[in-house]
Amino acid sequence: MNVYGRPTRTLWPGADGVSVEIIDQTRLPHEFVTARLGTIADAAHAIKAMLVRGAPLIGATAAYGLWLGLRTDASDTALREHSATLAATRPTAINLRWALERVTRAVSPLPPVERAAAARRLAAEICDEDVAINRGIGNAGLALIRAVAARKPAGEPVNVLTHCNAGWLATVDLGTATAPIYLAHDSGLPVHVWVDETRPRNQGAGLTAWELAEHGVPHTVIVDNAGGHLMQHGKVDLVIVGTDRTTATGDVCNKIGTYLKALAAHDNGVPFYVALPSPTIDWTVRDGISEIPIEERAATEVTHLTGVTSDGALATVRLTPPDSPAANPAFDVTPARLVTGLITERGVCRANEAALRHLFPLAERV
Ligand code: MRU
Repeated sequence: MNVYGRPTRTLWPGADGVSVEIIDQTRLPHEFVTARLGTIADAAHAIKAMLVRGAPLIGATAAYGLWLGLRTDASDTALREHSATLAATRPTAINLRWALERVTRAVSPLPPVERAAAARRLAAEICDEDVAINRGIGNAGLALIRAVAARKPAGEPVNVLTHCNAGWLATVDLGTATAPIYLAHDSGLPVHVWVDETRPRNQGAGLTAWELAEHGVPHTVIVDNAGGHLMQHGKVDLVIVGTDRTTATGDVCNKIGTYLKALAAHDNGVPFYVALPSPTIDWTVRDGISEIPIEERAATEVTHLTGVTSDGALATVRLTPPDSPAANPAFDVTPARLVTGLITERGVCRANEAALRHLFPLAERV
């Protein structure tokens, strides 16, 4: 996507040949700042502290992180340790484990001296694949948006509600949930996005709103509690969200609050779609609610907020009484029965095991 009119990805190999550059997402929307990752510790920190975030981007960063680690030590023991270091950064998004396992599988049979270069090539491949996957999701989702538009009076925008940031900032480029929106907008279809602010870290208000604004897509930021009301009043045509891990049976784990949107959509007959890149499917898990580890983040993300004051300075303020404890589960699970469809790079399917296995036969998985 374009930033200040220039095509930009969320991470790219550094010009020095020994590093990776990323957009520091903790600084958006107030500042556009890039950061250099030169070591595996830098990569692990970037994922853990959420300079990069979003399931596909976490996976891509981990792949490059493994390359950075292998540059300093490519022995069998080090490979295992590097992988464990990166795997420990965030527990919920399955793309992290998927990328680490894929790179490890590819480099393990090689002599140590060849491992770093092979890891770097594969990390670049994973990035390009991510963009291609998102384009596939975009095309499949565009057909859904077109179908809704065809039922509306000419010129009336299709209203899409989205939660968190499953935009290009959460991927290498284009985004998952936003890919159909960008393609619809670019093809001249009027589309308007309701952007859930997504407390506590405000990935909607800070990141999704920023990228939609950069691309000129009409949108409105709403508080997380507004979606149900808008659905009751016919102001949402469809919901499209991302996912951090989807089970073999179609349960969808995504940013906290997604489940409540799915319930409201179900009650109001609003289609609830999940943009699902295939690396986000965890084929080893069947019951999302009991089996997916849910990240617990710092209570300060709930008790405090950071923003810009009227004089342009960044400031953090406390919202709660100093002695009130806070809890911060970062993800929830939407059962498959509440999901209208999964928008994958191979087309839209029902959220169930047979449909997923039909689209992604065992022999073709990477
Ligand atoms: O905690 P985050 O910001 O990493 O959570 C991101 C989300 O929940 C996204 O919706 C999900 O990763 C899908 S991104 C294409």
